Amino acid sequence: MTMQKTADIFTGAAASSRVDWDALFAAHLRQLAARTAAAMQDTQYSGLLLHSGSERIVFRDDITYPFKVHAPFKQWAPILDVPDCFVYFDPARDRPLLIFHQPQDFWHKAAAIPDTYWSRQFDLRIATDRATARAELPADLSRTAFIGEAFAELAAFGVGAINPDHLLAALDFPRAFKSDYELQCLRVASHLGAQGHRAAAAAFADGASEFEIALAFMRAAGQREKELPYNPIIALNQNAAVLHYQVQEKSPPAVRYSLLIDAGCEFAGYASDITRTYAYADAEFRALIAAFDELQQKLCKQVRAGVEWADIHAQSHLAIAGWLQDSGLVRSQPETTVASGLSAVFYPHGIGHLLGLQVHDAGGTLGGPDGHEIPRPPQHPTLRLTRRLEAGFVVTLEPGVYFIKQLLEQARSGPLGKQINWSRVQQLEQFGGIRIEDNLAVTASGCENLTRNAFDAV
Ligand code: GLY
Ligand code: MN
Ligand code: MN
Repeated sequence: MTMQKTADIFTGAAASSRVDWDALFAAHLRQLAARTAAAMQDTQYSGLLLHSGSERIVFRDDITYPFKVHAPFKQWAPILDVPDCFVYFDPARDRPLLIFHQPQDFWHKAAAIPDTYWSRQFDLRIATDRATARAELPADLSRTAFIGEAFAELAAFGVGAINPDHLLAALDFPRAFKSDYELQCLRVASHLGAQGHRAAAAAFADGASEFEIALAFMRAAGQREKELPYNPIIALNQNAAVLHYQVQEKSPPAVRYSLLIDAGCEFAGYASDITRTYAYADAEFRALIAAFDELQQKLCKQVRAGVEWADIHAQSHLAIAGWLQDSGLVRSQPETTVASGLSAVFYPHGIGHLLGLQVHDAGGTLGGPDGHEIPRPPQHPTLRLTRRLEAGFVVTLEPGVYFIKQLLEQARSGPLGKQINWSRVQQLEQFGGIRIEDNLAVTASGCENLTRNAFDAV
């Protein structure tokens, strides 16, 4: 789907009128340039050189791994599938330089020279290889910091530093604050994800295998697997208990109980990260999912600027402990279930994370542009975000409960085992687990639920 077409069909919140991508991107680039100039001033660099990445060849073969551009590059230019492009930024220049790679290669189709809303903001040059790219750059790069994976020819470029930690931290920290352009990209990514999820749910109801559900998702989203922001988790029945389940079984199971699907799309380099859980025929499990969905929505209501994310995480444990008790899975009261560590047996991950150019976006534990860390609470070592929420952050909110054999067996042999209703576990473990995950744009007074808005719109 082309960007313009996607923009035209998108009718989510605050976007009923046509989106002016040129204006949005121009403002985004101005903001990014200002942030980057400030970070460079603090770190004594006068230039920044970003490289989109190198094609990687499989050992003793002539085929390549799927190419993925890295986040710092695609924040400047959403070139998602062209290795060996460069962006050069010098605050003293009028426009950043974009050196677009167009090799002379009759085996492959070279990418078309971009002429669209974002490329119009660059001083655009074309290079056929790294040597011609170098010739487009200033002769002296001794005060330029390079960002990307180093390659052999880089040694002769004469850059001042390669991926200096202090500069990377100074750039990662403000990435949590999304520009209006980035928010709009995230809305479209959510919209595409919701389209995929609707089709996947229908395929599940029709008796599809995990693999067929994955195909239904990609077809409806209009994206091939390598374009997705992460490997979709498409888990039937007990497979839902594997947190990052990666297999896609080609045959459907003999009996169908449940689907947990965690899948998102990318738009202009920005990700959605959406999870839904469905019951096939079991009314009781469907009711448990509905109660869990309600719990998730209550947690979403707590999201606003000024709130500590670790507090929302703590609240999620309490809410899940209540759900475990109401569902007949544990005997203890919620406070005890949390304090004893029992809730973590069923819910061993964090409540969510920053979302953006990466599905687990950078800077979640940074306390400032100087790179100091906000440590994870000792009782919650898996939390990916320890910052206080601020307007402009985009986060996922994704409580989950799972019947994970390894964790349940550990608990069974200790004091926690007595608080677990094992016959209830036996009844429910065939469903694997439940996770509901939405993407939320934080505002001063609350949040915009990108996922629910997208589901409502498709
Ligand atoms: N899709 C991975 C996660 O939800 O964090
Ligand atoms: Mn997530
Ligand atoms: Mn997810």
